[in-house]
Amino acid sequence: MTDGPTDSQAGIDAVGDRTGGELDPRVREHTAGEEQEGIPFIGAGPGDPGLLTVRGKELVDDADLVVHAGSLVSSALLEEHCADAELVNSVGKDLEELVPLMRDAHESGRTVVRLHSGDPAVYGAALEQIDALEREGVPAYVVPGVTSSFAAAATLRTQLTLNGVANHVAFTRPRGKTLDAEDDHVAEFVEMGDVTTCIYLGTHAVSDTMDRLLDRDGVDPDTPVAVVYHASWDDEDVITGTIADIGEKVEAAGYRASAMVLIGEAATGAGYDRSYLYGDWANGGTADADNGETMDAADAASDTETTETEADD
Ligand SMILES: C[S@@+](CC[C@H](N)C(=O)[O-])C[C@H]1O[C@@H](n2cnc3c(N)ncnc32)[C@H](O)[C@@H]1O
Repeated sequence: MTDGPTDSQAGIDAVGDRTGGELDPRVREHTAGEEQEGIPFIGAGPGDPGLLTVRGKELVDDADLVVHAGSLVSSALLEEHCADAELVNSVGKDLEELVPLMRDAHESGRTVVRLHSGDPAVYGAALEQIDALEREGVPAYVVPGVTSSFAAAATLRTQLTLNGVANHVAFTRPRGKTLDAEDDHVAEFVEMGDVTTCIYLGTHAVSDTMDRLLDRDGVDPDTPVAVVYHASWDDEDVITGTIADIGEKVEAAGYRASAMVLIGEAATGAGYDRSYLYGDWANGGTADADNGETMDAADAASDTETTETEADD
């Protein structure tokens, strides 16, 4: 925590003041693969250094200063890619400390990268740093990463969306330091039944969250839950159970660090239906996967691109 205002204070105080409507012009200028200017906000992925993107790896390998998200970024990754860089842990530092630190290093000609865990777009608080830096005249941009719920699905050898089981995915977190009780929607997502609910919060909150779900009408206590501790790390572990018993199992395991909690049938990978894509459609059928209506040949042909885009369904 920094005492008193810094010279970046005006820019930091303006955080969240973006006016709606117009997108930043760079949004339309940029095309994938082009080199961008400024400080990259890189998704480090879930932990395994092999799950850092190729672009992220190139940038981190070249960095002089790496500002990283503390214990959420795996030490294996920092050791493998940042051995020659100065490392700064962002945990416990406010914007008043972080923004001048990154700005000054960038302006003095050092190569700065900001390393967030998973993907910066999910519970990453990256935008407030990016906006404050840009108000200081330091451009910044995002390099995406593999978010931890994707790594957890891979560990569980399942899909987050699964035919006939889960049609939707919710990235969420329960009430706590960063979320007021009235903004906690975990129970609503679980009650919907065909949603895989991915909870981004440490193991300490699992038990209380499950107790609150059990108090709700409409939530089936036998709903499957999988907790993936440190997905993709060397000490990764999986605890499975139901809303009724997972809290106790997690407490017994004694973990106190990052875990992804997946609630819903998809966590088990069981009970799914064969997909249309690799069934009727592949065999020349013309039923529209989305609405079950019959298409004529021309419609089917023009729908091919859409269907191919959805090839993972
Ligand atoms: C502040 S959020 C950051 C999320 C991150 N931006 C992402 O995309 O995964 C931290 C939470 O993400 C989850 N998380 C991050 N890394 C994880 C991992 N390797 N395994 C399981 N959960 C993880 C945990 O729920 C943790 O409490």
